[in-house]
Amino acid sequence: MATTTLTLFLGVLALTSILSFNAEARPQPSDEDLGIVIGPNTGLDDDLGIVIGPHVSEDLDMVGPHTNLEDEELGTIIGPEFEIHKHDFPKDFIFGTAVSAFQVEGAKKGSGRGLTRWDEFTHMFPDKVERGDDADIGVDFYTRYKDDIKLMKELKTNGFRFSISWTRVLPNGSVRKGVNKEGVKFYNDLIDELIANEIQPSITLFHWESPFALEMEYGGFVDERIVEDFREFAKFCFENFGDRVKNWATFNEPSVYSVAGYSKGKKAPGRCSPFEVLNCPSGDSSEEPYKVTHNQILSHLAAVEEFRKCCQENGGKIGIVLVSHWYEPKDPNSSKDVEYARRALEYQLGWFLRPLTYGHYPAVMQKDVNIRLPEFTEEESEKLKKSLDFVGLNYYGAFFTTPLTNTNSSELSYTNDLGAKISRNIYPFSFLCTTSMGIVIYPAGLMNLLRHIQDEYKNPEIYIMENGMDEIDNGTKTLAEATNDYGRKEFIKSHILIMGKAIRYI
Ligand SMILES: *[C@@H]1O[C@H](CO)[C@@H](O)[C@H](O)[C@H]1NC(C)=O
Ligand SMILES: *[C@@H]1O[C@H](CO)[C@@H](O)[C@H](O)[C@H]1NC(C)=O
Ligand SMILES: *[C@@H]1O[C@H](CO)[C@@H](O)[C@H](O)[C@H]1NC(C)=O
Ligand SMILES: *[C@@H]1O[C@H](CO)[C@@H](O)[C@H](O)[C@H]1NC(C)=O
Repeated sequence: MATTTLTLFLGVLALTSILSFNAEARPQPSDEDLGIVIGPNTGLDDDLGIVIGPHVSEDLDMVGPHTNLEDEELGTIIGPEFEIHKHDFPKDFIFGTAVSAFQVEGAKKGSGRGLTRWDEFTHMFPDKVERGDDADIGVDFYTRYKDDIKLMKELKTNGFRFSISWTRVLPNGSVRKGVNKEGVKFYNDLIDELIANEIQPSITLFHWESPFALEMEYGGFVDERIVEDFREFAKFCFENFGDRVKNWATFNEPSVYSVAGYSKGKKAPGRCSPFEVLNCPSGDSSEEPYKVTHNQILSHLAAVEEFRKCCQENGGKIGIVLVSHWYEPKDPNSSKDVEYARRALEYQLGWFLRPLTYGHYPAVMQKDVNIRLPEFTEEESEKLKKSLDFVGLNYYGAFFTTPLTNTNSSELSYTNDLGAKISRNIYPFSFLCTTSMGIVIYPAGLMNLLRHIQDEYKNPEIYIMENGMDEIDNGTKTLAEATNDYGRKEFIKSHILIMGKAIRYI
């Protein structure tokens, strides 16, 4: 693995840390070193899972002496045999933070930004959004970004990942329908301020904010017309920002955009399959998640074509940011459970990474989804194989798999195609903690996933773009507990530890 970047959620400001490195010397691991991987399958550390989690106090005996991420030395995490230090990482490793436009910018009104599907969704379905929030103001990053950059300096970070709000620069979705100069100036100023502070900018083009104008015109990503509009948007960004920005990603977590947005109805545009969601208002979407994925992949390809024309010689790189959990069989002795862990990986990660590496969808999906799964032309397939300079990876945790029982084969949906029951804490792993959203905290899964990508996808350059822990504040923590943020610190450090091991051993 040549380069890796790790982005970690740090909480309050939704800031995240990016770590990146170029691994060179790779000594072979000793048995002892390998035993250091945290997780249920290593035999020695059943109790480690308990230490990491949202509601764990700092009074545990196991806690090592140095617990501040900001320390020059990262210090011990859980006793001397689990140490990782900053000097374990290469000198050019990037510790950074990250945000997405809609989550932080605010400035919906009076800034010339056009409406997006998420504006509509947050206002129309407040029950689907935590506390019924919208993003009209956010944390007002639009006017306060300089304060945040100061904080990045204080945290000694030197990378920052953000996304461009499509409608902030092109309010009606395309160049011919008008450019918002104020929006372009905002991103130019942000990029210049980052560079002046020696923080490398990394841009994601699409973090789920589909222009409302294009949604009205032809339905956004369900329609192939999106591909040429995305091409135009991407080209516009490369031309305006590509002279200073060297790291580009086309899409963020496109699988979530397809499934949560078009099958489960949980995220904008809130479309769902009646076989997934009780009282689904929009109906008929057994094909939509697959179409939306297909159009995202073709849009990625269009953007990469433009990038190769304009920005290649500047030393810029372009990739995509994919999320994947790690899946463990619910019963490791059941071959079905093992098979379904594998299926789950193919349906989440392989759905994108197989086309982007080999030019076609995963074989299991071709078989199950059959005629509902779109196909690439031969020409598209060939181009797809050369369309990634790096794989961006978001890792949060693990789930356990077993086959779904009693599925009705005429009820077609993404979830039924996959056919896996995805569970959280189960015996014999019930010592593991989950986040507020119910993701199983499982640092070892990161190592497994990196290895899986290395082995299955031709050893690509990998940037870990997100990692972190969600935690709902229901008002029961004391101020001291909340500011100490012990569980999150342990979470982040344990994943940094795994990163350090991954640099050396895989
Ligand atoms: C976007 O379209 C609307 C409605 O046609 C128009 O009023 C507005 O001026 C357009 N925005 C830009 C930046 O051209
Ligand atoms: C799996 O099988 C082995 C050998 O038969 C047994 O020792 C182990 O307890 C089993 N594990 C589970 C989770 O059932
Ligand atoms: C299977 O699903 C179809 C469509 O929802 C329904 O009409 C049918 O009754 C179901 N069959 C069974 C056995 O539940
Ligand atoms: C608050 O959250 C904690 C941790 O999830 C939980 O144990 C507690 O019951 C919650 N309290 C309330 C009032 O919801």
